[in-house]
Amino acid sequence: MDNQRVRQLLASSPGDARVATRGWVRTHRDTKDIVFIELNDGSCLKNLQIIIDKAGPAGGDQLKRLATGAAVTVEGKLVESPGKNQAVELHADRLTVVGDCPADYPLQKKRHSFEYLREIAHLRPRTNAFGAIARVRNNMSTSIHRFFQDRGFLWIHTPIITGIDAEGAGEMFQVTTMPLDKLAGLQPTTIDYSRDFFGKPAYLAVTGQLQAEVYACALDRAYTFGPTFRAENSNTVRHLAEFWMIEPELAFCDLEANMDLAEDFVRTVISDVLNDCPEDMQLFDQRIQKGLIESLQAVARSPFKRISYTEAIAQLKDSGIEFTYPPEWGAALQTEHEKCLTEQIHNCPVIVYDYPAECKAFYMKQNPDGKTVRAMDVLVPRLGEIIGGSQREDNLEKLESRMQAAGLNPDDYWWYLDLRRYGSVPHSGFGLGFERLIQYVTGMQNIRDVIPFPRTVKHADF
Ligand code: 4AD
Ligand code: MG
Repeated sequence: MDNQRVRQLLASSPGDARVATRGWVRTHRDTKDIVFIELNDGSCLKNLQIIIDKAGPAGGDQLKRLATGAAVTVEGKLVESPGKNQAVELHADRLTVVGDCPADYPLQKKRHSFEYLREIAHLRPRTNAFGAIARVRNNMSTSIHRFFQDRGFLWIHTPIITGIDAEGAGEMFQVTTMPLDKLAGLQPTTIDYSRDFFGKPAYLAVTGQLQAEVYACALDRAYTFGPTFRAENSNTVRHLAEFWMIEPELAFCDLEANMDLAEDFVRTVISDVLNDCPEDMQLFDQRIQKGLIESLQAVARSPFKRISYTEAIAQLKDSGIEFTYPPEWGAALQTEHEKCLTEQIHNCPVIVYDYPAECKAFYMKQNPDGKTVRAMDVLVPRLGEIIGGSQREDNLEKLESRMQAAGLNPDDYWWYLDLRRYGSVPHSGFGLGFERLIQYVTGMQNIRDVIPFPRTVKHADF
């Protein structure tokens, strides 16, 4: 008999047909004649209640092996449940414990703290919250691909190993070709880091943008969706050393159209997850952030606020709020400023555009004012920046001079400059930090809890 998922069974009607399923015991309860099992298989938040008659064919030795965390298979009939939590329950006449679970199982029947669960990242998907996060993350991945596929974008697999610093910020992990056994015996100082990727330096990609530009400048619309790496020593609840980024890139596109796309994108993904994962979203609304669903519904419905960087600085100064870093034209916006704009001043997501050139990367298009660039960041309440993007500099000479000003050698970027030499076109794009969007959608405080295996200053065990 084919196994069915718990989600499928909970949506089925009671009937005489025999059904089979499997999963892990969340809890079990013994009464005089009957054993109750709450079975979860990760297909949904809810458990399937299994009823076993001790005197029936499923009673006996197997029952003695039941334990929280044990893996079991069951067979029987679906009947109407007298309980108010579920429409059906499974009366089992066959039970097999396929994997015992001893009493030192670290997930006992109580609510564990997220800090504790972070230390057991290999077991945490068996909890309600982490099952819900995994399903929501999966739904959002699918929705993101659908969004771009529906609009004619090609998914481009950009390299993870690269020879250039594509953000010009110097926050890269270097890759080495040293065989591990040799490496173990070497003092770090004896490795020649300038030549260690088959004779040249190489790094883990901080972005796929420059390669996405190559494809947008040939095929009109491209996007990346992959892991990126940042060696910033930021031990915060919003930074990971390895995170996933989605980077669309469009030819024949200016900053306004880029902002329109970013807004449509964020609102569509939020609206999809609210529609597709109502139960999981309820869990976050109840346990993590009260009113979450209502606030996300409002975000999905309403346009974002758009203000220039210059307006943002003026509004921050006028707010009367005392900041740790007083807002000053020319300086990067701090998280406290981004939160103030999105929470106190506008109470909605805000797109800030036209930043001072010195705050932003070398590839952004210069404005005629000679001071600002065609950059845009999407900021949301609670988190601040979730998207960074821009119209790209499409003029060869201007791009070269910005590279030089940033201390980069244009010769290292010869292929990128060729895009401006041959058939240059106005083009734009942005990068969304996937984990930041998941944090926003789930209300989770710490970015380490929305990626299965977080890589941070302290965590790289699993
Ligand atoms: O603003 P960033 O650095 O922009 C870029 O990488 C551009 N190349 C994107 C583009 O135009 N194609 O990063 C984009 C987003 C940020 O807004 C943030 O959401 C996320 O990536 N991000 C991080 N997320 C988690 N941990 C980190 N250390 C992050 N650094 C950036
Ligand atoms: Mg940024």
